[in-house]
Amino acid sequence: MIVFAFPGYESLLETLQPLAKRGTFEISRFANGEVVARVGTPVQMEHCVIVSSIAPPDEQFLSLILLAHTLKKEGCRRLTAVLPYLGYSRQDKEKPGESLAAAWVGSVLRASGVDDVVTIDVHSERDKHLFPMPLVSVFPAEIFADAIRTYQLTDATIVAPDNGAIPRCQAVNRALGKLTAEVPYFEKTRDQSGIKHTKLIGRAGTQALIVDDILDTGGTLLSACEKLIQEGVGKIDVMVTHGLFTGTDWKRLWSLKVQRIFCTDTIPAKKDIRDEHRIIILPIGELLKAQVAHLHRVPVPVC
Ligand code: R5P
Repeated sequence: MIVFAFPGYESLLETLQPLAKRGTFEISRFANGEVVARVGTPVQMEHCVIVSSIAPPDEQFLSLILLAHTLKKEGCRRLTAVLPYLGYSRQDKEKPGESLAAAWVGSVLRASGVDDVVTIDVHSERDKHLFPMPLVSVFPAEIFADAIRTYQLTDATIVAPDNGAIPRCQAVNRALGKLTAEVPYFEKTRDQSGIKHTKLIGRAGTQALIVDDILDTGGTLLSACEKLIQEGVGKIDVMVTHGLFTGTDWKRLWSLKVQRIFCTDTIPAKKDIRDEHRIIILPIGELLKAQVAHLHRVPVPVC
């Protein structure tokens, strides 16, 4: 197996290296902006793995699909895309007149030669059905549970900021051995004026831990924290799989009783995020390694 990792994913590459050798490649642009991929490692009849999240969403996607196409053109037998954060996966519902980008991403990856995709905590089960090839998603429940124990947060009530996050919260409770714990949650609506949460359904106590898949602008978490404070919660921690940290609004979380934000390293963190001591970045390399090792032993499915 040969791994082609994009810049920013060096530590993941290192984790995967006992399984595979490192492939070299270069992405550049012509003067007019057209993207060019050059592969330096022979790949004839090899199982190749590309590692890169779809983030940023346009340039990174273009580079990775061109690399995929080039690897297949060079004779790679099987191509797995390890995309720790699967950009566009939130566009997973059919809405008349609007793009269904999760389906589009799946089709473009398939047309570019990708045989299967491995990701971390895909937005929804719907995404799997929208992909024309196997999409394996692993949720880092054990990693979250370990962090909860390390930071002595086992007494915090795990709260879902919307319906979609309930199964994530339940998985973390299970990993903590809290098999019967109820998950308090909010009903969430989003309109042009922003996010609106209903009153909390269930009880959070005085210490809450919000678990969700994505922190993008922070709108969802800000609104959830405001409601939790109204419910009398005095301390809040936030645990998300993918830290996008878009813009600066999310920084208001610090004034809403948020003590720490935990996220994984599915997206390479910028310096200001790495330097913020209240943001704890949890590595997911070993989880992906186990998944890739498993895939390598399983024959490529016929799509
Ligand atoms: C939405 O369904 C997701 O699970 C996240 O709650 C959402 O995408 C986070 O985005 P933002 O931080 O911009 O509210």
